[in-house]
Amino acid sequence: MKNIATALRYHDRTKHRPSRYAASLGFLDWTTQPDPFRRYPQTHTTELLHDDTTPPYHLLFGTEPLPKAPLCLESISMLLRYSLGLAAIKRHGRSEWALRCNASSGNLHPTECYLIAPPMDGISCHPTLSHYAPDIHALEVLHTYDTPVIENGFLLVLSSTIWREMWKYGERCWRYCQLDAGHAYGAIKIAATMLGWECSIVSIDTDEMGRWSGLNQHDRFHEDERESPDLMIQIEYPAFNLPEVPPLPSANVLSPSHHHWPIVYEIDEASQGIYPSIKSLDVQRHIPPPSQTAGEIILKRRSAQMMDRSGITQEHFRQLLNASLFCREAPNINFIIFVHRIEGLEKGLYAYLRNPDESIHLRESLDSTFLWKESFKDLYLLKSGDFQGAAQYISCNQEIASDGAFSFGMLCNFSNTLEQYGAVGYKNLYHQCGMIGQLLYLEATSLGLSATGIGCFLDDEFHTLLGICDQHYQSLYHFTIGRAIVDTRLTTLQPYTL
Ligand SMILES: Cc1cc2nc3c(=O)[nH]c(=O)nc-3n(C[C@H](O)[C@H](O)[C@H](O)COP(=O)(O)O)c2cc1C
Repeated sequence: MKNIATALRYHDRTKHRPSRYAASLGFLDWTTQPDPFRRYPQTHTTELLHDDTTPPYHLLFGTEPLPKAPLCLESISMLLRYSLGLAAIKRHGRSEWALRCNASSGNLHPTECYLIAPPMDGISCHPTLSHYAPDIHALEVLHTYDTPVIENGFLLVLSSTIWREMWKYGERCWRYCQLDAGHAYGAIKIAATMLGWECSIVSIDTDEMGRWSGLNQHDRFHEDERESPDLMIQIEYPAFNLPEVPPLPSANVLSPSHHHWPIVYEIDEASQGIYPSIKSLDVQRHIPPPSQTAGEIILKRRSAQMMDRSGITQEHFRQLLNASLFCREAPNINFIIFVHRIEGLEKGLYAYLRNPDESIHLRESLDSTFLWKESFKDLYLLKSGDFQGAAQYISCNQEIASDGAFSFGMLCNFSNTLEQYGAVGYKNLYHQCGMIGQLLYLEATSLGLSATGIGCFLDDEFHTLLGICDQHYQSLYHFTIGRAIVDTRLTTLQPYTL
């Protein structure tokens, strides 16, 4: 079943419009604020290790992969620490909150991670299914298999605790869960690259993910806090033959009460199915200049809350665009960019074709008066002018979109993807956008710049500006990059210090 109608209905209904944002409570109900950390109190916990030795960031993008780390507790610890672990604790007055290596809309972190691993010293002499608990950097062992079910690599299942996002964002929340899952995948891919490991998404049925990870055992979760399997990742190329797991321990309860947005459950149900096997982009990206270690950059990555309106060099701009090509599993995304302050580049509206195969269709779909004047490889000026006001307006009036050096929308090849894969393809497009976002955050950090993902934007205002009047292309995620103004009122503390 492709469920295209449900995906289109959800997509249209959850667009932010100038006169009406997508339905939500419209205020934050602090009495029901979800616990940001999923825990399984009845499980045995294996503490993971802390190791600061990571390779230089630029070596992650070399033509030769880094030496392969052995599959052991040390390397798994590093993978999780530098992808989904805590990066900093922020304090303001009496409030304290954790920030993680992976970005998440509203810092709500709906994404959970389950690990299916072969026997390993320090975890178990049997294969195990565990949950990663980022608050304590530990694995909660949910199940020990008594037969050899996996070898030569391991699997990660990412799921969304949709309630965490629903609490704040109402009906639009499912979009954010999927963008966040894409960010988590991007973060895991980078950490795996650091360890010399291959990392890819497995094309598999949601039902199987649920049976293998126990996420289909709904009675283990509060009925309003169930987790929905998003995607399964393989590290290296494991051979596996997994059984359905027996009843597993119950999860903690995240909120005392809940509110409901039924359309979210509908799209979640409709987008289950066999995860698309996406043909990768066939591109080479250039290697960034030497900078800090990968670990330093990953931990330093933060979303800018304010930008200082300064410009950036064209070299940095090119490098950022080029970095997005590292996400070869995201071939369906091109960028429409508001260039505000890039040295040597006229202000205006530009198209960056990550996938030049889309060139003809894009030209046909966008405003016929656009110039399509090539500025450098795959970057085209569509229209000159100052788009700061438009960028801010379209980004729900957020100044970060106009005060950055540039901001952009990720324009997705929408209706073709839905026709080909159905609603699960809709979900995959968000994952593609999220993984690009995570990569760009890191690349910006490596250049001494800052970025912020923008989930709040006026969908059709952006489409209208581009002359889009059908569903061929739709923008699913926006982004801004520039120089952050640091909020000096906040104190930053190291995580995991006892
Ligand atoms: C999918 C997504 C959408 C986001 N949307 C916005 C946004 O519209 N406005 C904003 O200021 N920040 C936005 N952010 C940034 C988050 O608020 C930020 O990632 C979160 O507070 C955690 O902070 P950190 O990125 O520094 O770890 C978004 C992040 C993601 C991943």
